[in-house]
Amino acid sequence: MKLSFALASLASAALAVDTFQATPYLTSSNSQFGSGIEGAGVDRAGNIYAVNFNANSAAAGKVSPSQSLLYQGTGSALFNGIRFRVDGSGNEEAYIADATGHRVLRLTNRNASGSFQNSAVLCQDPGILQPNDIAIAHSTGRIFMSGMNYQATDVIGNGDLWTCDSTGKATKLGVFYRTNGIEVSPDEKTLYLSESANKDWAVISNVIYAFDLDAKTGAISNKRVFADFGKLDNTASTDIDGMRTDTQGNLYVTRNGNGKVTKLSPSGKLLAYINVPGIMSVGNLEFGGKSGTDLYIGGKCEKDAKKGCVSVYKGKAAGRAFNDLQHHSKGPAAPTASA
Ligand SMILES: *[C@@H]1O[C@H](CO)[C@@H](O)[C@H](O)[C@H]1NC(C)=O
Repeated sequence: MKLSFALASLASAALAVDTFQATPYLTSSNSQFGSGIEGAGVDRAGNIYAVNFNANSAAAGKVSPSQSLLYQGTGSALFNGIRFRVDGSGNEEAYIADATGHRVLRLTNRNASGSFQNSAVLCQDPGILQPNDIAIAHSTGRIFMSGMNYQATDVIGNGDLWTCDSTGKATKLGVFYRTNGIEVSPDEKTLYLSESANKDWAVISNVIYAFDLDAKTGAISNKRVFADFGKLDNTASTDIDGMRTDTQGNLYVTRNGNGKVTKLSPSGKLLAYINVPGIMSVGNLEFGGKSGTDLYIGGKCEKDAKKGCVSVYKGKAAGRAFNDLQHHSKGPAAPTASA
């Protein structure tokens, strides 16, 4: 009797994870983004950006509050991640990951409509697998990059982790199975990195590692499993994609293919699900809006597989990046552009 009662309350506790709904924002009928929409970023004003504007892999655009071009690159560039930074002089600039160029570009000189006019290579190394997504420690301007080489059966080295300091020096921090989601905690003392693994084309594992981080030197230590989705909610076969923290240290994780964002506490506890109707492959996400509390979630539209859709979930805490862009404008000056 007592045991069955205990089991029943355990079961209902497991089911008691809060579930929220995101609301469609850009749909297949009004989106100017292609299905490769990815790499969500926020600027100091709370505007949200993503890549694959005009379905062009070398273009990034503004998602909200209205759509427009952020930056048009050239050639075979494949933009996959965007982060903004305010330097020591208060200038706002952006960093964009170019997966085919194995580099991160630094964008400067915004015109009156918000488009960046100049780009220079911030860091580049032929050994960088992609990068897939980038995270930034706003106090130091240091960047962290994930990346993968998708194979039938993964080996360590199909994923990597690199860092690049504000002068452009790139350093490899480690090798993994496929890495994708990457984010820094609000106190910049923890780095989160996702790792997925394939066996014979089947996805068999999805975990998030946490590392102690020195945001100044980029050194990481004390690698530990922060969340293992096989154990957490039996979704080992669903890929992790974008990851972002809020100012309370909660981590929001998109589950590509699952139509969902999972919210984890700073200790890795499963707090909530955010359903994202209308999006087939939920890719990346970022907090924006005037108070930085609206979570924009992008991915391939369900109704039109050639288009990128965005939904919004109105949260309570502001995003880490939005908050840091308001307060961390005393960091070192950005490097001088040298194309
Ligand atoms: C800013 O640059 C973009 C892209 O080069 C261009 O389309 C837009 O017209 C420019 N806006 C202004 C006000 O010059």
